[in-house]
Amino acid sequence: MFRTNTCGELRLSDAGKNVTLAGWVQRVRKMGGMTFVDLRDRYGITQIVFNNELDAALNEAANHLGREFVIQVKGAVSERTSKNPNMPTGDIEILASELNILNPSEVPPFTIEDESDGGDDIRMRYRYLDLRRNPVRRNLELRHRMTMEVRRYLDSKGFLEIETPMLVGSTPEGARDFVVPSRMNQGQFYALPQSPQTLKQLLMVAGMDRYFQIVKCFRDEDLRADRQPEFTQIDCEMSFIEQNDIIELFEGMAKHLFKEIRGIELTEPFIRMPWADAMKYYGSDKPDLRFDMRFVELMDTLKGHGFSVFDNADYIGGICAKGAASYTRKQLDALTEFVKRPQIGAKGMVYARVEADGNVKSSVDKFYSQEVLQQLRAEMNAGPGDLILILSGDDAMKTRKQLCELRLEMGRQLGLRDKDKFACLWVVDFPMFEWSDEEQRLMAMHHPFTHPKDEDIALLDTDPAAVRADAYDMVINGVEVGGGSIRIHDSALQAKMFEILGFTPEKAQEQFGFLMNAFKFGAPPHGGLAYGLDRWVSLFAGLDSIRDCIAFPKNNSGRDVMLDAPAPLDQKQLDELSIAVVSPDRQA
Ligand code: AMO
Repeated sequence: MFRTNTCGELRLSDAGKNVTLAGWVQRVRKMGGMTFVDLRDRYGITQIVFNNELDAALNEAANHLGREFVIQVKGAVSERTSKNPNMPTGDIEILASELNILNPSEVPPFTIEDESDGGDDIRMRYRYLDLRRNPVRRNLELRHRMTMEVRRYLDSKGFLEIETPMLVGSTPEGARDFVVPSRMNQGQFYALPQSPQTLKQLLMVAGMDRYFQIVKCFRDEDLRADRQPEFTQIDCEMSFIEQNDIIELFEGMAKHLFKEIRGIELTEPFIRMPWADAMKYYGSDKPDLRFDMRFVELMDTLKGHGFSVFDNADYIGGICAKGAASYTRKQLDALTEFVKRPQIGAKGMVYARVEADGNVKSSVDKFYSQEVLQQLRAEMNAGPGDLILILSGDDAMKTRKQLCELRLEMGRQLGLRDKDKFACLWVVDFPMFEWSDEEQRLMAMHHPFTHPKDEDIALLDTDPAAVRADAYDMVINGVEVGGGSIRIHDSALQAKMFEILGFTPEKAQEQFGFLMNAFKFGAPPHGGLAYGLDRWVSLFAGLDSIRDCIAFPKNNSGRDVMLDAPAPLDQKQLDELSIAVVSPDRQA
C-alpha cells in the first residue's frame, strides 16, 4: 500500500499503529539529535520525528530534506509530549523507521504558507504551487461542494443536465466573441458561447422541460474583480412557467446553498425591488442592502437659494451617514477627491453636519438659512451626530451613479459592508431596452429574447424605451449573482424585437433564423436564469476577486501567465487556416 492514511487523519486513538504516509515536506526543524518534519497533503499536516539515537543514518537523511520534497514515511503513531492544540493531528507524531524520497524539489519561488511571501504575478506563474496553499485549496473545495449541492437541488426538482456545444456561431448583441477559425471551412469562424442562451431555448422547443448545465461561458470584455473572460454559469431553463415560478425555484436554490454551504438559514422571502426603485434609491441595478443610506432627492429643498451649482442642477440627491458628523475636514476633503476621480466624475460634494444641539453646519452655509438646513435635516431623517452628503449634476442618471459610489465608499468606511452578513434581493421589471450612445440605437438591456411585460407590449410601437421586461436579477451584497427572464416564444414577436433593435428582416433571419424558425414548430412558453458560479463561490468565501476561486484564472490583461497564452501561431498553422496576421509586430 502506497499510504495507509492521509496527513490529516491520525489521532491519539491511533497511537501504536504502524502507518505509511506520503506527502510534501512543509518544514524541517533540527533539535538536538532529533529532526522534525511537517508532512503535508490536501488533508492536513502530520509531524514526523527522526531520532538520531534510534537510527543515525535515517536522521541524517531527514536532515537533507528540502521544502516541497515528496516523500513516503513509515513509522509508528505515538503520543506527543508537547501537544499542538491548533492542529487536528496535534496530539500525535510518527516515529519514523523508513524514509523514501519519491521526488526532490527545487526551492519553491515563494513560501507555501497561508500568508505567502509571493507576489501576485509569481504565484500565478507557479499556480500549481499556489494551489498547494490552504486558502486557495479551500476555495476550490468550496467550489466543489457548491456544484455538488447545485446538482443535488436541481436533480431533486426534475432538471436534466444537458451539454451544449462550445463551438457555436458568433452572435451580435452581447459582449465581443472569442472566435475560433475553422480549417475545414476556410475563412470561416466559430465563436465560443457567451452563454448557451439560444441553445437552451431550443432544448425547451425540444420538450426537455427543465434543463440545467454548469457551463463555461466566454466573453471578450474588459476585466474587473468580478469578471473573467471565461467563467462558469449555472445555466437553467424551464417550460410552462411564469416569472414567479422561476423566482421561487431559484430563490429556493439560493436558500439551499446558504444553508448547506454556509450554515445560514434564510427564512424570509427575498425583497423584490423594481429596477426603477433601485436606480432611484441606490443609483444602481445591484444595490448593496447590507446598509440603508438611501438616496433622498433634494431638488425642492435646495434649489432657488442662490447657490448656482444646485440652481442649475437637474438632480440633487443626498445620503445620510449615521454617526459620521465627527468626520474631519481632512476626511471630507478626501471624500470630495474620491467623487472627483475621473472614474466617478462628480464636480464636487456638499456636506452638512448635524451638531449635538441639532444645529446644522454645512459647507454652503452662506446660501442657506438655518431654517432651510433644518428642513434638509428633516428630509434626510438626520439626527445629532449624523453627516449629510450631497451631490448634484445635470444628468440625473449619471449623478445617481456617482452618489452610488459615494454611498458604497461611506458604507465601507463605516464598516457596514461586513463580509459575513448577506443581503439578498431580486431586482425586477428591468427596462426592455437601453439607449447606446456608441451604437446610436436601442439595445436589449438583458438580451433580445426577453419577453416584454404583457401590459407594455402596446408601447413597443409607440414608446419602446418605456417598455419593461419580464426580466430579473438576483443581487447579493451589491453583486449581481444571477439573472434571467421569461422568453419570447412567438416568432412574430421575436421578429418585431429584432426590428426595434435595428435588424433588417434579412439580417435577423441570417443571424437568428434558426430560433425564429424553431418557434414555428410548437415552442412552449419558457423562461430561465443563469447564476454566476464564480461570483457565488467568492461571496461565500469572502474573496475580493473571483480569480481566487478559479483553479487557473487569467490576469487583468486576459493572459494566462503560467501557460503564456495567448501567443502567436506558427506560420504553418496560420497557412493551414488561411489566416494572415496584418500587423505581426503587434503580436510579439
Ligand atoms: P448574464 O449575462 O446576466 O445572463 O449572465 C448570468 C450571470 O453570469 C455571471 N457573469 C459573469 N461572471 C464572471 N465573469 C463574467 N465575465 C460574467 N458575466 C456574467 C453573473 C451574471 O448574473 N443567458 C443569460 C441568462 C438567462 O437569461 O438565462 C445570461 O448569460 O453572475
